[in-house]
Amino acid sequence: MPGEDLVFGVNGEKFEVLSVDPSTTLLEFLRSNTRFKCLKLSCGEGGCGACIVILSRYDPVSDQVEEYSINSCLTLLCSINGCSITTSDGLGNTEKGFHPIHKRFAGFHASQCGFCTPGMCISLYSALSNAHKQHSSPPDYLTASAAEKSISGNLCRCTGYRPIADACKSFASDVDIEDLGFNSFWKKGESREDMFKKLPPYNPDKDLVTFPNFLKERIKRQHNNVLDPRRYHWSTPLSVAELQEILAKTKPGGDDKKLVVGNTGTGYYKEEKKHYGGGYIDISHIPDMSMIKKDDSGIEIGAAVTISKAIDALMEEEDTYVFKKIGIHMEKVANHFIRNSGSIGGNLVMAQSKSFPSDITTLLLAADASVHLINGGRHEKLRIGEFLVSPPIIDLTKSVLLKVHIPSWTCSSTTGLLFETYRAASRPLGSALPYLNAAFLAVVSHDESSSRGIVVDKCRLAFGSFGGSHSIRAREVEDFLTGKVLSHSVLYEAVRLLKGIIVPSVDTSYSEYKKSLAIGFLFDFLYPLIESGGWDSERKHVDGHVDPAISPPLLSSSQQVFESKEFHPVGEAIIKYGAEMQASGEAVYVDDMPSLPDCLHGAFVYSTKPLARIKNIGFGGNVAPTGVLAVITYKDIPQLGQNIGYISIFGTGRLFADEVTTVAGQIIALVVADTQKHADMAAKLAVVEYDTRNAETAVLSVEDAVERSSLFEVPPEYDPEPVGDISKGMDEADRRIRSVELRLGSQYFFYMETQTALALPDEDKSIVVYSATQSPEYTQSAVAKCLGIQDHSVRVITRRLGGAFGGKAIKSMPVATACALAAQKLQRPVRIYLNRKTDMIMAGGRHPLKITYSVGFRSDGKLTALELYILVDAGIDVDVSLMLPMNIINALKKYDWGALSFDIKVCKTNLPSRTSLRAPGEVQGSYIAESIIEKVASSLNMDVDVVRRINLHSYESLKKFYTQEVAGEPDEYTLPLLWDKLEISSDFKRREESVKEFNLCNVWRKRGISRVPIVYEVVHRATPGRVSILSDGSVVVEVAGIEMGQGLWTKVQQMVAYGLGLIKCDGSQDLLHRVRLIQTDTLSMVQSSYTAGSTTSENCCEAVRLCCSILVERLKPTMNQILENARSVTWDMLIQQANTQSVDLSARTFYKPKSSSTEYLNYGVGASEVEVDLVTGRTEIIRSDIIYDSGKSLNPAVDLGQIEGAFVQGIGFFMSEEYTTDENGLVNQEGTWDYKIPTIDTIPKQFNVQILNSGHHKNRILSSKASGEPPLLVAASVHCATRSAVREARKQYLSWNSNSGESDIGFELPVPAIMPVVKQLCGLDSVEKYLECKTCSKRSKESI
Ligand SMILES: Cc1cc2nc3c(=O)[nH]c(=O)nc-3n(C[C@H](O)[C@H](O)[C@H](O)COP(=O)(O)OP(=O)(O)OC[C@H]3O[C@@H](n4cnc5c(N)ncnc54)[C@H](O)[C@@H]3O)c2cc1C
Ligand code: FES
Ligand code: FES
Repeated sequence: MPGEDLVFGVNGEKFEVLSVDPSTTLLEFLRSNTRFKCLKLSCGEGGCGACIVILSRYDPVSDQVEEYSINSCLTLLCSINGCSITTSDGLGNTEKGFHPIHKRFAGFHASQCGFCTPGMCISLYSALSNAHKQHSSPPDYLTASAAEKSISGNLCRCTGYRPIADACKSFASDVDIEDLGFNSFWKKGESREDMFKKLPPYNPDKDLVTFPNFLKERIKRQHNNVLDPRRYHWSTPLSVAELQEILAKTKPGGDDKKLVVGNTGTGYYKEEKKHYGGGYIDISHIPDMSMIKKDDSGIEIGAAVTISKAIDALMEEEDTYVFKKIGIHMEKVANHFIRNSGSIGGNLVMAQSKSFPSDITTLLLAADASVHLINGGRHEKLRIGEFLVSPPIIDLTKSVLLKVHIPSWTCSSTTGLLFETYRAASRPLGSALPYLNAAFLAVVSHDESSSRGIVVDKCRLAFGSFGGSHSIRAREVEDFLTGKVLSHSVLYEAVRLLKGIIVPSVDTSYSEYKKSLAIGFLFDFLYPLIESGGWDSERKHVDGHVDPAISPPLLSSSQQVFESKEFHPVGEAIIKYGAEMQASGEAVYVDDMPSLPDCLHGAFVYSTKPLARIKNIGFGGNVAPTGVLAVITYKDIPQLGQNIGYISIFGTGRLFADEVTTVAGQIIALVVADTQKHADMAAKLAVVEYDTRNAETAVLSVEDAVERSSLFEVPPEYDPEPVGDISKGMDEADRRIRSVELRLGSQYFFYMETQTALALPDEDKSIVVYSATQSPEYTQSAVAKCLGIQDHSVRVITRRLGGAFGGKAIKSMPVATACALAAQKLQRPVRIYLNRKTDMIMAGGRHPLKITYSVGFRSDGKLTALELYILVDAGIDVDVSLMLPMNIINALKKYDWGALSFDIKVCKTNLPSRTSLRAPGEVQGSYIAESIIEKVASSLNMDVDVVRRINLHSYESLKKFYTQEVAGEPDEYTLPLLWDKLEISSDFKRREESVKEFNLCNVWRKRGISRVPIVYEVVHRATPGRVSILSDGSVVVEVAGIEMGQGLWTKVQQMVAYGLGLIKCDGSQDLLHRVRLIQTDTLSMVQSSYTAGSTTSENCCEAVRLCCSILVERLKPTMNQILENARSVTWDMLIQQANTQSVDLSARTFYKPKSSSTEYLNYGVGASEVEVDLVTGRTEIIRSDIIYDSGKSLNPAVDLGQIEGAFVQGIGFFMSEEYTTDENGLVNQEGTWDYKIPTIDTIPKQFNVQILNSGHHKNRILSSKASGEPPLLVAASVHCATRSAVREARKQYLSWNSNSGESDIGFELPVPAIMPVVKQLCGLDSVEKYLECKTCSKRSKESI
């Protein structure tokens, strides 16, 4: 059949692509070949939502348009032939006006760095458009629950999700508008009607996109979407026979061609992203494979049907309970945009041929589904169990999966049909592979011989994703249960049998946990039948079955902030600078800068071994892969240059490994190629030959480092001072706990924009580097040193960052430096945008610590002495690690320890060099303090909240621990006030009681509640700024601080409007929107230093305030002159006149804080309540309350965002984010599959934040205080509450084992407290123990 050209629409614009490599993804094409950059690349594996777009498909027969969101990072360009794509800037933009979604995201303060925001907007848009299609007329649009769920697959690292959820819910028809959070549309107390009126209006008729006519006409003319297979290497068979014909021509082995539907499998199997010489076969257009048929025997689903469509069909049926359950479970497979393009067949084939841990195979196994295949030309029907164990479908010449059949299940009037599915995953709404899944089907009836007994007539018990090669049935258990009357002892025997069946492969992590999950789920399925003697009649489904589809409660929140007009517009909750533009995706990040035609791209080759001699770097077969132009190593550093990759206040670090590597993950080379894809592929193919003979033994632990004296020396000014006399303190103690050991692990930044730079060689050996860095000045020096040129020849430009969190302070520099080196050597522009895996391997992250402490205290809980020995794992380079001792101790000093002494060693190891991650050292210090307090309370059997309160500082002890200068005035010490306020606002005492009651009444769920204080010291730094007034009265501002989502530009914009407004002429009160912030340029804004430590916003504000004062002074004479002849003067008139009089309208200052006011303390208190599920170990955060002292906030909306975002990032550290290394020191986690930052379904269900306005602070900048880092520490409250819940679980566990004589002598809850860890502490065998206990007590009752 003759094929057509590839034609599609993007935002209504026609694109015609005459030839393309068929492995090109939609994202690659749009970002490299068009001006549409609003779809962002963040993970490249379908796990984050930054890249999603709307895909619309027109059906000429029904004249209907189908519309859904898809990820563009995995979707192949050829598969969208004839479709229309809408990106966030297609919904609205600066030119045609923003969409109401953009406006509401901005108004609800739901965008910080903005990198996730276009994807979030698309997810919401997709939900709106679906709701519109399902309901014909207003107001039946989106429900609040669907609005909230719509972003469950999107990651945001900045906001903490709460404001995003509010922006989404503002579109819901059933939302109570008063429940929506703080926003810029209305003020508290306005009527509901007024609130509605103030929301940017949404009108589906106008605000939903339409399918472009040019495509409709083309599709009507063509009737099919068949591309010319020779030109595109893309076949589109339209029938099974045609597919067979194509397959018959495929070479034996079949791996030069790829069968494809959604191509989402390449998110997991990245090696399949390669170029297939024989091209692709798109099977999604074969009617037999895309149909869904239902009849009495069951439902038949074509293999190419997407998971979303299958769910719709399964859920549609009113009377098929099993189907509905399968549908409900499938809603947790991946995320909505993967389900929209990923097919059922793709999932099954991945599970069958590559042991992918599928949910769907487990469900189908329990439901006794079968599959229909073409195998070696023959049609074959196999039960799903047979299919899973048959030879892998890798040889395309042999097997293609055509469809799946799920039988209908019914039962007689005297029997009950039960079907339940289970999934233990770190995210309840999906977007995380399960540790284990299960699906159980049982037909049960009443035992005729007893009044309450239930007999299992038949059962199918399926388990998957546990580390076996595929989903399995527990047949021995099925056989054992069949015909049995259920009882505690029968269930006990069944779970013991099951233990021997769930056998994860040897390399599976958490295998004992997985076994315990299997047991827990079976228990959960059968135990209610034993207890109730029936199958739940109250929650009966239409044909008599349990329906668990109870919607989870919505998130709720409250925010209390104080807005002040005193320094208008400073102190007001102004919308973030450029927020709408961020939502539409027009805000430009480094990788969005248009490429010059001859631009090259780089990717790093990193070492996988420490201390290994590099013998050779090559590629397999010694042929340079496609597109590679150069491989740059240390040998390419110019003669006058040095092998320097970064500069920090403590020293320098290497760019490339030289002859011997120092750590696994060290940069060995930069592969430079014509495209980023080619560079990445080549770097992956690079083969490094090592020689490890006679290699030194690597230092891979802090203990080794101490033993071998591999330590960094801490300069005296960074060495914290002990407090008091430790021996005396210990003597004063009634009790002492000695030599307790704690360990804290690392954390990865997970900024959405990975490290990136673009270097352009310029004349006279100079170079311009666009770098996503927090430290432009240091980057400039590092580049200059590496290239052997002077600083003045390096211009580093930074506009904004897609998140940083400290990760772009130092670790951005090697990227910029390598980029500059390659550009200089090749005399062509070079850009690098690290893929997520490389970024994770090289990032280093937070410092792991080993802590040993001894603490002395009195019987009433008063602490008298604390002695610490801390080993900090700094990794190989000094980076900023010498700050750690000071930071740890500063945060730990939040309690009055009586006396405090410590020995902190900063260890140099052959592990990735650790760096600053939001609250570096402080979060650990604060947590160590909490952990010690918990231990003290537990040893005294006292309420830990009381012990905390007793040991909060008095103002006197605060001065002793922090010095008078840092502690400030007595009324600035607001911590006790915050503590008391939170007790009332969070109803803490009453909730403590209800937690106790809950724990008494519930066996398998335990709750904990905890309140923690924080004290956080920050330091002001010298900072330059420049304010220039242009001839039309508009104002342009340059500051050294980098906008990375923390709202720095917004605060500066407000400060400039305030500062210039002091001239007090007509219009000077309204200058806010005439102020523009521009990028930082190191040759313009010298001494720009770095943005870190939470105070840069304040410093920059002060710098521009000083500039404004100068300008106002300069303008005053002109104003007075004008006023001599006029009654008033407008701003424009004033500036025009000043220009005529040659007044210098540009002022630069260098703000240098007074030594007396450089450091100050920040305070906050948080309380969290959690519930732990003892079967799975999952922790749900029921509620968190925070009160934080922001002084007089410069912008309460920005500070609120910082508080919430930091707190949620802290939840990640304490609860879910594992960042570990293997035996060589190479980072284990590679991306979104195994690194789990919080999502909307893991944040507190109720989240209340109050910003305390603590009034006038004479030494602060307009009385403001910092908010960027300190609130992260408050998240320890979640961990402490979890510990408390676990303690209850352990008490109960011991009570089931009363004969053992054991007692709970205290335990440490590791960080992060991930599900396996929590479950282990609650008792991996808790179900067995419980059943043993039940069986024993029944026996003893019987014997009585
Ligand atoms: C981020 C993410 C999260 C996920 N989470 C989950 C999860 O929680 N639970 C879960 O069960 N799954 C999960 N998945 C897997 C997901 O369900 C599959 O990626 C998807 O169903 C594959 O369908 P596809 O059409 O995209 O397959 P493709 O990627 O197009 O194909 C996958 C493989 O199957 C082959 N193939 C496809 N169709 C056929 C056929 N009919 N006959 C023979 N071979 C065929 C292809 O050649 C290819 O090798 C996740 C995937 C992603 C990307
Ligand atoms: S970049 Fe596509 S989902 Fe993350
Ligand atoms: S605003 Fe969501 S990642 Fe930054």
